[in-house]
Amino acid sequence: MAGRIAPPAQDQLLACIEAAVRAPSIHNSQPWQFLLLPDGVEVHSDPSRRLPAIDPAGRALHISLGAAVLNLRLALEHFGRRTRTELLPDPQDRRHVATVWAEEPQEPGRDVDELYGAIARRHTNRMPFQDVPPPQEDLQALTRAAEAEGAVLRFPEPGERDFLLSLARTSDERHRGDRAYRAELRLWTTDDPYREDGIPLTAVGPYSEGGLTTLRDLAPEREVPGRAAVRFEPEPTVGVLALPGEDGPLQWLRAGQAMQRVLLEATRRGLSTSVFTQALDDPELRRMLHRPGDHTTPYVGLRVGYGPPAPVTPRRPVDEVITFTRPVPIRPPRLS
Ligand SMILES: Cc1cc2nc3c(=O)[nH]c(=O)nc-3n(C[C@H](O)[C@H](O)[C@H](O)COP(=O)(O)O)c2cc1C
Repeated sequence: MAGRIAPPAQDQLLACIEAAVRAPSIHNSQPWQFLLLPDGVEVHSDPSRRLPAIDPAGRALHISLGAAVLNLRLALEHFGRRTRTELLPDPQDRRHVATVWAEEPQEPGRDVDELYGAIARRHTNRMPFQDVPPPQEDLQALTRAAEAEGAVLRFPEPGERDFLLSLARTSDERHRGDRAYRAELRLWTTDDPYREDGIPLTAVGPYSEGGLTTLRDLAPEREVPGRAAVRFEPEPTVGVLALPGEDGPLQWLRAGQAMQRVLLEATRRGLSTSVFTQALDDPELRRMLHRPGDHTTPYVGLRVGYGPPAPVTPRRPVDEVITFTRPVPIRPPRLS
């Protein structure tokens, strides 16, 4: 048929899903399902993987899904396709968060190939980083990566950064006083080497010896063999990723894509990263961070620097996250 664009090969689409599931997700919950179309992929959220205690609104869930969408886009582009992405394409189905369409052939270019190559090398690093700040040139590249996805990435000055970190710690302490949060955290941290989701205890990192840290204590009540208190970098390089527009699922998905592009750009440049959302996901604490005249909402905090190699976390295999029938929609509530 003249003019018709050939659909991507099935094995390429599977490789794209393989890339999508490498995305970071809150507590490694992997809250996604993928429906293969002849010429694209639908991304659906998996409500059974929601984390009601840490993420009652589904903010972190959508940020995680956004990260998977970015990986999917990059993978399709790596396989030589231009892509078009529709976010929340069906107003009657909140579960259907995106469709990524494979369009006409296009040479991928070096940026796409290198970012795609970084997908498998990116891991959350909860170890102390060296007392060496990343070069300005790299931080500017991260800022541009965020801008490419319609977001703003700022690296606050030490005073503002330390205030943010103190609020993050306040948020962590509040959470730890919450039984439901602790029970959920216990469910999603694991010493089972065969488990394919959740955060392995080998990845929770050491305790922080005094000082400020961006890290949430992921195993406050568990015996983690060899877990010690160590000194973290006293002057961490911390970025805040924000977007203009209404704070809701659409912006959360955009924030997730921007976060993932920044993390991949950092990985490509040899930087270690970890992310945090505490303080930023709490409306009361977020208000305290508000700067006059700033019309953006912060979604994700990022720590960047030079760390030792980070442990790899598991993923569910592709055949468990592919669905062959469209998942049952979640309809928006009726306004009476
Ligand atoms: C929205 C979001 C919030 C996260 N918040 C935290 C956090 O507060 N502390 C933390 O150590 N890791 C956090 N993470 C990282 C996840 O725990 C991590 O991505 C997951 O365990 C998978 O590991 P990986 O990133 O090494 O692939 C977050 C990830 C996402 C997507």
